[in-house]
Amino acid sequence: MNTPRLCHSWTAHAGQSFVIRQAAPADALQILAHTRAVLTEPEWNITELREFRHTVAEEEAWIHSFQDRPHSILLVADFGVAETPLITGILAFNTQNRFRTRHRGRLGISVQAPYRRLGVGEALLQTLLTWAKVEPELERVELSVFAHNGRAISLYRKPGFQEEARLSRAFKLANGAYYDDVMMVRWVK
Ligand SMILES: CC(C)(COP(=O)(O)OP(=O)(O)OC[C@H]1O[C@@H](n2cnc3c(N)ncnc32)[C@H](O)[C@@H]1OP(=O)(O)O)[C@@H](O)C(=O)NCCC(=O)NCCS
Repeated sequence: MNTPRLCHSWTAHAGQSFVIRQAAPADALQILAHTRAVLTEPEWNITELREFRHTVAEEEAWIHSFQDRPHSILLVADFGVAETPLITGILAFNTQNRFRTRHRGRLGISVQAPYRRLGVGEALLQTLLTWAKVEPELERVELSVFAHNGRAISLYRKPGFQEEARLSRAFKLANGAYYDDVMMVRWVK
């Protein structure tokens, strides 16, 4: 089925135009580069760079998988012009397709360092919440964030996410240190 792809225009705080749109398999190379760049900042990510081994073909398949699963969506922030995309942020939202968990899904978000503080994260999040409000069955948007990631927690609180639980020492680093995990939720219906 060919459902129309979501695409909305935004203006960054510094005045640049960008769109938030659903990702397409043709974005695989840029999404790979984006993910590798973000994973060079280990203080914000669960996945370590050494664990991320997707090939372009695997990345294409991953992007494609969002089109096949209900209640899941992959959004990108694109600062490109005409046919030349410039992906600067992504938001992946996934649900487990079981009858008893179909009402909830989990998001992950990242913005390229040079494009932060421009409103890109907020645009990705608002687009997801607007979509989730009308997506059948979906009621609960969840996420997990390192307790020390204050800027991400501020981003989530702005549209009304609330802390629901805290897991102490949920992540163990190679150097033996631990990170706590904060679970946040926003009901959309
Ligand atoms: C967290 C992240 C996604 C924010 O994206 P962004 O595009 O810079 O965010 P925005 O510019 O849309 O900011 C929206 C709100 O987030 C909060 N925020 C973002 N950056 C912040 C910062 N450096 N300090 C404090 N608050 C910040 C603010 O509440 C801000 O609203 P305001 O502009 O009215 O103050 C981005 O910093 C990032 O990708 N970080 C690395 C990866 C990461 O931490 N991902 C989340 C893992 S759970």
